[in-house]
Amino acid sequence: MGAYIVKPNQPGHGAHIANAAYMVDAGWRGSGVGRQLGEHSLLIAKDAGYHGMQYNMVVSSNKGAVHLWQSLGFDIIGTVPGGFHHAGEGYVDAYIMFKKL
Ligand SMILES: CC(C)(COP(=O)(O)OP(=O)(O)OC[C@H]1O[C@@H](n2cnc3c(N)ncnc32)[C@H](O)[C@@H]1OP(=O)(O)O)[C@@H](O)C(=O)NCCC(=O)NCCS
Repeated sequence: MGAYIVKPNQPGHGAHIANAAYMVDAGWRGSGVGRQLGEHSLLIAKDAGYHGMQYNMVVSSNKGAVHLWQSLGFDIIGTVPGGFHHAGEGYVDAYIMFKKL
């Protein structure tokens, strides 16, 4: 149905901040799987001792993802103007999102 990965956002002195990536099978999207993956990843990251979770590239036009992460307590802490080259939309902004654990 879906999967995620949690890893250090940076090696060495940045390794206390986690980074994660998520993917839900197209046939299951909109069924709450992404929310469960997000909630679970935050729990295991906290248990693993990470101080925060940072997403380095959330595509601004990915409205479902932006809504989901904000509803789980993430803030947009930065915007990379035109940071993502979207196949259909051209260059769109990319967000850096962060949540303290
Ligand atoms: C982003 C992704 C992980 C979300 O997974 P999902 O299983 O579809 O998410 P959920 O069903 O848990 O829905 C999450 C929320 O997004 C909302 N949502 C979905 N599409 C939306 C849209 N176009 N606009 C606004 N909100 C939207 C849902 O209503 C839900 O909010 P709610 O619980 O407050 O009602 C999934 O769509 C995916 O794998 N996308 C492709 C890869 C990707 O974008 N990964 C994340 C990169 S940051």
